Amino acid sequence: MHASFKSLLTDNARLIEATLDHVLPPTDHNQLAKPMRYAVLNGGKRLRGFLALESARLFGIHDPQSLRIAAAIECLHAYSLVHDDLPCMDDDDLRRGQPTVHVKWGDATAVLVGDALQALAFEILADAQTSTDAHVRLELLSTLAVAAGAKGMVLGQVQDIAAETAGVPLSLGQITELQANKTGALIAWSAVSGAVLARSDTNALLGYARALGLAFQIQDDILDVEGNAATAGKRLNKDAAAGKATFVSLLGLDAAKKQANSLVEQACDMLSAYGDAAAPMRQVARYVVDRDK
Ligand code: IPE
Ligand code: IPE
Ligand code: MG
Ligand code: MG
Ligand code: MG
Repeated sequence: MHASFKSLLTDNARLIEATLDHVLPPTDHNQLAKPMRYAVLNGGKRLRGFLALESARLFGIHDPQSLRIAAAIECLHAYSLVHDDLPCMDDDDLRRGQPTVHVKWGDATAVLVGDALQALAFEILADAQTSTDAHVRLELLSTLAVAAGAKGMVLGQVQDIAAETAGVPLSLGQITELQANKTGALIAWSAVSGAVLARSDTNALLGYARALGLAFQIQDDILDVEGNAATAGKRLNKDAAAGKATFVSLLGLDAAKKQANSLVEQACDMLSAYGDAAAPMRQVARYVVDRDK
């Protein structure tokens, strides 16, 4: 990883975390505050936040606005992880190198923490500090609702669980659709959010994000097979035993890696109109498939 990109990743993560610290309820607020803060603030690469921040910078949007968008999507993403780890879902006891929320506080609290984080994401976006333009706020809210719900992430999670017990292995097309919903929808929302804030055309960023989201989930599935659990901060070597439908399960490791790399190139090609200004978006695309966590 290039040193300047590494520091950009760290600097952006710090900015996003400072915003999260501010928008999350203070620890002593009530009994939900502590597990909510734990779920969001304990580690994480802040990839979705990075995409929100950098896509806004492409359009000259000031950070204080896009940082709220970054914080909102990181809350929504953290909710999806808390629920993904529940015993009735992937049943995981470790996340970001720490015990999962349900292990620490019980299943009911974990469900409710997820619910509260999802609602908080929408609350952050609805606030006039995110944009003084009500049309922009409505567009952010309605597109996130679609990306998060039964046409997006939640649908993908349902497809992911259903695939575990499917009689016939999923086809490449079905796995692509599952992953586009499960992981791609929130990544796409993040990468496009800058253009929405700027009331600009979203097409190029959408093309970029579709390829990137798929590459991201393929790398997650590769890490499940050959990653290091201590580095990744979560249990690995679980997908095959659970019967998960992934590019790796269908194509094998080598073809999955080739596919991920070619998707990164496709993603970068979509950004040509932005020239050098899109360098961070290109670097993060590379990082998505080179990462070890
Ligand atoms: C993990 O997402 C869940 C998937 C969608 C595969 P990340 O790998 O972005 O998790 P954090 O936020 O860095 O912990
Ligand atoms: C999780 O995918 C996707 C969402 C949380 C929406 P995975 O189940 O593959 O993520 P990990 O491997 O547990 O992080
Ligand atoms: Mg899962
Ligand atoms: Mg999981
Ligand atoms: Mg995984």
